[in-house]
Amino acid sequence: MDSFRIQGGRRLAGRIQIEGSKNAALPLMAAALCTDGELTLRNVPCLSDISNMGRLLRTLGVEMDGDCGTVRMRVADPNQVHAHYDIVKTMRASICVLGPMLARRRRVSIAMPGGCAFGSRPIDLHLRGMQALGAKIELNGGDIIATAPEGLKGATIFLGGPNGSTVLGTANVMTAATLAKGRTVIECAACEPEVVDLALLLNKMGARIQGAGGPRLVIDGVESLGSADHTVIPDRIVAGTYAVAAAVTNGDVTLEEFPIDCMMSVVDRFNEIGVHLQVVDGFDDLMHATVRVTSDRTLRPTTITTQPHPGFPTDLQAQFMTLLCLANGNSIITEKIYPERFMHVAELARMGAEIHRQGPTCVISGGAPLKGAPVMASDLRASASLVLAGLVAEGTTEVSRIYHLDRGYTRMEEQLNVLGASIERVRQTAGSPAGEPAMASSEG
Ligand code: EPU
Repeated sequence: MDSFRIQGGRRLAGRIQIEGSKNAALPLMAAALCTDGELTLRNVPCLSDISNMGRLLRTLGVEMDGDCGTVRMRVADPNQVHAHYDIVKTMRASICVLGPMLARRRRVSIAMPGGCAFGSRPIDLHLRGMQALGAKIELNGGDIIATAPEGLKGATIFLGGPNGSTVLGTANVMTAATLAKGRTVIECAACEPEVVDLALLLNKMGARIQGAGGPRLVIDGVESLGSADHTVIPDRIVAGTYAVAAAVTNGDVTLEEFPIDCMMSVVDRFNEIGVHLQVVDGFDDLMHATVRVTSDRTLRPTTITTQPHPGFPTDLQAQFMTLLCLANGNSIITEKIYPERFMHVAELARMGAEIHRQGPTCVISGGAPLKGAPVMASDLRASASLVLAGLVAEGTTEVSRIYHLDRGYTRMEEQLNVLGASIERVRQTAGSPAGEPAMASSEG
């Protein structure tokens, strides 16, 4: 299992480009199941989660040309209806195939995703949405069997849960409704930019979706969907992570393809802390801007609460915790999406961070210098926060289990090294050491 060896204390400078969004690309790929036409996706990032989705789609009868970059997909065998546990357990986002399969094939059997590193992660809202559209849902041998022999029917559906809207749940119900009879209204829909990107693709395929980006979606069902060619939006979480990398090293970094238009809550917190994001090019299309990141010498503490979009994203909570370890004074982070998503806290403490957690809230007493240490990654964004800490820590930090990072960042070490970091990928070739899981966890 590979690890990163990071020599801390180097100031980052230079220019890199932000890759396509993983969380946008996964449901976009699943949309290939909804049409007999060809779906061409561009700017698909080269990540293990994307390969896993490709693997799943192939087992469901989709022919694919390309694994990332430009990917062409077409259904060759519409009779496959079983999403097996061995793939689903590698990636929670496999649930994305539920809506497309039910809409087009009227039957799907998909292994129930388990819990993950940061909580129980239920899928009740996905299932409620499908039932509202007329599907019958059963659980058998750990598989969800969803059927709608007469096809789906439009309905009015409320998709809010205890922690707000659901991103993939909205993607699933919205996609299923494109082929349902009549009108579907989704209330408390997720407003995330990844949902907007999916609605854009589906409309290119012939769907009739209105309201994407807001909490009420209106979808008028159509008979069938056709071919489309679509470019995936840049990844706002990768953009935010590399902006934090610039900030923790007091660097001067320019990031191309920066989707600042959908990152106002993040820009707002950066400003409070003393990190400056300046648009230097691409003013006419702020989803693809070029942004220069610089920071004040002294960083200020702040308060962050994660929320559904357009609030502060949970997927940047861990990275901002590392940043706030460097601010002068006490900061507070409250996690309102996944109250257990704090696997990074104990590892940051091993590097000298002073963080006190009580339930979903952490108080970060910033200012103590971080010191290099061996630390262990436990999920994707926690891993990113440890790499960021390693960039600024005194001495050497070794982050193990970086397969988590490869799920969501394309060759992160190469990107950061271009900017002047010193990160070596230490390859472990002779199998997993004792006690290491043979399998990636599935939190995405
Ligand atoms: N929830 C329910 N019932 C459901 C579904 C969700 O109660 O049926 C709850 C969840 O437990 C959570 C909240 O609703 O408290 C929001 O979860 P959501 O369904 O929005 O999460 P998701 O769609 O499964 C996506 C991203 C996650 C990201 C979340 C929140 C993908 C592939 N994954 O997950 O990304 O954290 O939205 O923004 O799009 C990551 O990239 O590191 C990652 C975990």
